[in-house]
Amino acid sequence: MEGGPCPRPSPGPGRRTSGRPRHGRAEVGPVNATTGERWVFHQGEFARARDVTLGPGTQGLHYGTGVFEGIRSYAAADGDEALLFKAKEHYERLHASCRLLRLDLPYSPDELVEVSRELVRRNGLTGDAYLRPLVYKLALEPGTPFGVRLSGVSTSVTILAMPMGDYSRAEGIRCAVSSWRRVPDASLPARAKITGAYANNALAVDEATAAGYDDAIMLNQGGSVAEASTANVFVVRSGEVATPGPDSDILLGLTRAAVMRIIADETGVSVTERAVPRSELHTADEVFLTGTGCQIVPVTEIDGRPVGDGTPGPLTTRVREVYRRAVRGADPRYRHWTTSVGLGSRADARV
Ligand SMILES: Cc1ncc(COP(=O)(O)O)c(C=O)c1O
Repeated sequence: MEGGPCPRPSPGPGRRTSGRPRHGRAEVGPVNATTGERWVFHQGEFARARDVTLGPGTQGLHYGTGVFEGIRSYAAADGDEALLFKAKEHYERLHASCRLLRLDLPYSPDELVEVSRELVRRNGLTGDAYLRPLVYKLALEPGTPFGVRLSGVSTSVTILAMPMGDYSRAEGIRCAVSSWRRVPDASLPARAKITGAYANNALAVDEATAAGYDDAIMLNQGGSVAEASTANVFVVRSGEVATPGPDSDILLGLTRAAVMRIIADETGVSVTERAVPRSELHTADEVFLTGTGCQIVPVTEIDGRPVGDGTPGPLTTRVREVYRRAVRGADPRYRHWTTSVGLGSRADARV
């Protein structure tokens, strides 16, 4: 499909017929249900979202010189508590992204986890929620001339928190292989979550949704599978489970790592990290996506062709179930992936 538009989807069971958001995304409520206020962490303090302003000279806005993360908070399976999933790992990745853009992040990953716990508490997010830490170039320092640059520019840190339910569709989604190639590591490293780089993802999503699909799968410059717009790709065929490796121009997803662990534990089979040719998408028994937002979602159709028999495959379903229990602290094997927020009667428990 290189250079061409996404094919029109064939009518199928998974076909979208309404203006339903991509992956069936849930509505994001902006306020604390109890107080009507929404708290953010901004420039070193907790502030009400409506009091936060950014100037028109904000450098990250001009040049896409910011980095971000997405972290989920889950209502614990045994109630009365929220759990952050892989929070420290997300903040370690944020630090790595910052180093790439010379962003001066003055908080350690542990401190950022503490800020996140407090933010969830302040917003009264007892149900499933999402945190969006954002670090970005703010203002030119005195003596720094106007223009695109990484040095001589101050850094700002803002963290948002919002309710966000489970929007991944158990019945699967329909994807198109995008005509937009994933930015190569030699141009704009996909391994960092750089705000400006997401224009690449946005183009791919826009093309796919305009053609009636749910999401895009992007190839890299070499023509093999890179990743979906905000998720990693796994293919299952004849007992082998493969996923594009670190040299495939991907973000090394934290969900991807969790799923690789789960598959090894559940099946005794290690996931192979290797180049995945496009044709494997069409010959696979199962394809699924992994990401903080979508979690684990079966792909049941690609470019108008069913994946396998066109329904979620057994491995996808099994991994999805284990993951769903793990993120809520219900699987002792993976309890170390979660951090208690400290809500309600368990405020002092399990930090
Ligand atoms: C481009 C891209 N790939 C993959 C992922 C999945 O990464 P993770 O599992 O860490 O959320 C994301 C989401 O953060 C993403 O934006």
